[in-house]
Amino acid sequence: MTMKIGFIGTGGIAKAHLNNLATIEGAEVTAFCDIDLTRAEKEAQQWTEAKAYTDVDEMLDDTTLDAVYICVPPMAHGAPENAVIERGIPFLVEKPLAIDKRKPNEIVKKIESKKLITSVGYHWRYLEGVQRASSLLSDRKSGMALGYWMGGMPMVPWWRKKDGSGGQFIEQTTHIVDLLRYLCGEVDEVYTACSQRVMHEKVEGTTVYDVGTVTMKLNNGMVATISNTCLSPVGHKVGLDIYTDLGVLEISSAGLKEIGPNLISEYKELKNPYFVEDEVFINAVRTGDPTNILSDYKDSVKTHEITIAANESAETGKSVSLKEMSRL
Ligand SMILES: NC(=O)c1ccc[n+]([C@@H]2O[C@H](COP(=O)([O-])OP(=O)(O)OC[C@H]3O[C@@H](n4cnc5c(N)ncnc54)[C@H](O)[C@@H]3O)[C@@H](O)[C@H]2O)c1
Repeated sequence: MTMKIGFIGTGGIAKAHLNNLATIEGAEVTAFCDIDLTRAEKEAQQWTEAKAYTDVDEMLDDTTLDAVYICVPPMAHGAPENAVIERGIPFLVEKPLAIDKRKPNEIVKKIESKKLITSVGYHWRYLEGVQRASSLLSDRKSGMALGYWMGGMPMVPWWRKKDGSGGQFIEQTTHIVDLLRYLCGEVDEVYTACSQRVMHEKVEGTTVYDVGTVTMKLNNGMVATISNTCLSPVGHKVGLDIYTDLGVLEISSAGLKEIGPNLISEYKELKNPYFVEDEVFINAVRTGDPTNILSDYKDSVKTHEITIAANESAETGKSVSLKEMSRL
């Protein structure tokens, strides 16, 4: 059976999913919505029966869709999800879920009440290296983790603005926060130190911090720091290092390095995690069985809340307890 799929947002990440869907049997993209009609039309031309729209409700009323991809920038979440949920359509939404915590908390309740299949673009979970790390960690004790997203600034205009992307920790480094949760456990408390050093002088309209470190306490006793910068003219380290009683695991999108007392072993990543993520989502919708989805909306809310707490700590200069934050 051919599955009819719609897209809301047709920028960079939408293109990556579309390239994958083009090779997944039975997946047919039939509708594209973007506030920029020329973008939607350009993508629609690549598919035999696709139509382009600028209004989400018009697209959803005009077509019958089995699944929707929501690939809008962080500040544009809310209305697309609500329109899709109202019509009971399963969806894959890109991270981050929003730039605040209210919208995802409202959305998750609606998803639960409709029992909808969802997937969130935390594609690192689908890396073979991450799966191997997860199995190695099952018989060792982890003490601490150091995470990184050290590089330059993406030049899409919304990224540099706090009220566009939410800042680097919410927009990019959220992948590493999610990896920490997935491999090490839940976070109880965060404290952020951050600053604007270079990019606000270099790129007009920049309001986001360009350096920052977030210190975290996990509820199993582990401690972690996750640092990020977007001021570097060269991409540097992106990943998570986990220190355990049997050695160190270095995880990056390129693979997994295991450093033990008598061994160094390296696994070079062979899988395209975006492809696996898309294939798993499409199969889940086709079969009605979400078991293989590694990151659904409900779980992703927890990752998102940590990044919101980190931003709150940046503003107040005080540590933030996740439990206390969720009570507010
Ligand atoms: N999982 C990943 O590794 C990954 C990688 C890149 C981007 N992303 C995420 O995907 C999202 C989009 O990023 P991008 O790089 O594609 O951005 P982009 O700027 O290239 O594209 C966003 C598109 O959404 C459109 N848009 C904006 N508001 C809209 C609305 N209300 N309705 C419909 N369309 C709207 C814009 O016109 C644009 O075409 C971001 O949240 C980003 O964090 C995830």
